[in-house]
Amino acid sequence: MSFIKKITRRSFIKRAIITIVSLELIYVFVNLLKKGNDSQETSKLFDAGEIDTFENGKVYPFNTERFYLSRLKDGGFLAISTKCTHLGCTVQFKNSDNKFLCPCHASAFNKHGEVLAPPATRALDLFPITISNDKVMVDTANPVKRNKHNRSQITYA
Ligand code: FES
Repeated sequence: MSFIKKITRRSFIKRAIITIVSLELIYVFVNLLKKGNDSQETSKLFDAGEIDTFENGKVYPFNTERFYLSRLKDGGFLAISTKCTHLGCTVQFKNSDNKFLCPCHASAFNKHGEVLAPPATRALDLFPITISNDKVMVDTANPVKRNKHNRSQITYA
């Protein structure tokens, strides 16, 4: 009798383990499929406004879209993510200091999003920009990671 009980208990544990492992595999598989689809996410173009509404050398917040539009002195544009590359807090642009500051651990970034002060080690992400019919269109669905700023990241009209 105790032999039958033992087998039943073993069998139950075996089935429970197989069920748990199967569920975990399904979960991992579904997440992989979801991740694959996310990486191919279509663009979500946000109309930031007419080119001429942005003065050279100024930074404009688009809080609901989580980016700042930086119009550089030479007229180029950068759409800079508000997400700090340290641990993800929201950075603020301080006009008085002419830089982005993170309230969490005091990282600082310049107008190009380059790191001025740690603990962040990587430049702020960028959102791709296209100029269409004199409007600045920002793809807010596809942030681009970068280590440093370089000129090729700037969009010109
Ligand atoms: S999250 Fe920005 S400095 Fe830590």
